[in-house]
Amino acid sequence: MTESSALEAANTFEELALAPELLSAVLELGYTVPTPIQREAIPLVLAGRDLMAQAQTGTGKTAAFTLPLLHQIKPHANASTSPARHPVRALVLAPTRELAIQVHESVVAYAKNLPLRSTVVYGGVNMKEQEADLRAGVEVLVATPGRLLDHAGNKTTLLNQVQFLVLDEADRMLDMGFLPDLKRILDMLPKNRQTLLFSATFNDEITRLAGSFLKDPLKVEVARKNSATELVEQIVHKVAEDDKIEALLRVLRVRNLSQALVFTRTKLSADKLGRRLQRRGVEVGVIHGDKAQVERILALDGFKQGKVKLLVATDIAARGIDIAELPCVFNFELPYSPEDYVHRIGRTGRAGASGLAVSLVSPEEDKLLAGVERFINKRLEISPLPSVPERPAPVRDAPVPIQAEHTDAADPGVSVPRSRRGREPVCALFLPPVRPAEPDASPAE
Ligand SMILES: Nc1ncnc2c1ncn2[C@@H]1O[C@H](COP(=O)(O)OP(=O)(O)OP(=O)(O)O)[C@@H](O)[C@H]1O
Ligand SMILES: [Mg+2]
Repeated sequence: MTESSALEAANTFEELALAPELLSAVLELGYTVPTPIQREAIPLVLAGRDLMAQAQTGTGKTAAFTLPLLHQIKPHANASTSPARHPVRALVLAPTRELAIQVHESVVAYAKNLPLRSTVVYGGVNMKEQEADLRAGVEVLVATPGRLLDHAGNKTTLLNQVQFLVLDEADRMLDMGFLPDLKRILDMLPKNRQTLLFSATFNDEITRLAGSFLKDPLKVEVARKNSATELVEQIVHKVAEDDKIEALLRVLRVRNLSQALVFTRTKLSADKLGRRLQRRGVEVGVIHGDKAQVERILALDGFKQGKVKLLVATDIAARGIDIAELPCVFNFELPYSPEDYVHRIGRTGRAGASGLAVSLVSPEEDKLLAGVERFINKRLEISPLPSVPERPAPVRDAPVPIQAEHTDAADPGVSVPRSRRGREPVCALFLPPVRPAEPDASPAE
């Protein structure tokens, strides 16, 4: 075998020596070659090492930890009905309920040909169903920390046989918000275990902290530290705070985007933007931490299935969420922490697809922008807002014919349609098929 064909061989899943049940599962999912983080991390996990693994958003970190841990616990798979024969052997912690659900879906997909049991527990829903699963016994448990502690406190689950602990979005799991819960969970786990930390971002403080509970960890870094994925084109428009909604609508329309995820900093501004867009006739979902869990799940599922074209979200949707071929992310407001910028824009440009991230930055946010640039070690060029073409390309199923008629006050000389009087012109794909004019109900915002 020549050197180059040996390298090629090392690029296949077969070469990673995973169990045949796992190989068939990834093939069925359409994965042909492992991603760089999968190539690097899987052999190290199989060799029993603790890891701090960093790889860009959307590059398959979930499979990079799930496949080798399923391989390792496969010998314990059994068909016994006794719960004692199904202790929790792998615990995966994630920072949000939606991410925990998604990671569990991946575990189910990768383990589909193995007789291993798994479940997910997270807050905001009744504990009863989760208790029944836990009592029956599961080998793989995916959880958010708070709800896991509730179950552990009730003795519905025991964590004293955990061989693998994974912190997905590890830098978030180790920040001040989660650390107290995490320490309590760590105290319940055997000292003799393998611990795997995965994220697209790590900082020095987190690295130091992680060192205190990892055994001789290896650092795996795919690509430059904290870099945003190159698959995402990053665009910055300078826009006064009050003009942001016009700018958002204009970019949606001019670029004729089929779907977009729009991030705000706070729950309040997510609700406010959602209401304002609805009043313009834009179909929009809103997701944030104050919504009922069932609403959160419905909004995200609808968006993932492409039923909802526009989703306004706080940073609860910034990390880990995998939306197939999402074309665009907007930063309606820049996040306070630059890490979140990297994670937010990483909701697009995943699994090899290209993506677009548009940040609408007001003068008050200049410092945040500078912080982002420092963090990703890249200068972000500022572009003028795109002009509205005289005659926009006709869009299939467009409910309202778009005619360029009057001049946009925010950008003199640029024509915008005014066919829907009193409302904003928007990308026709974001409009419902037929919609009576809505009363402009709320007096003040
Ligand atoms: N080897 C592969 N070949 C093709 N697609 C893959 C492969 N591995 C993973 N994927 C797909 O890539 C997408 C992104 O994977 P995943 O969610 O694990 O990314 P991630 O690195 O965890 O990103 P993030 O940092 O945003 O959490 C998923 O849809 C997954 O199914
Ligand atoms: Mg992930």
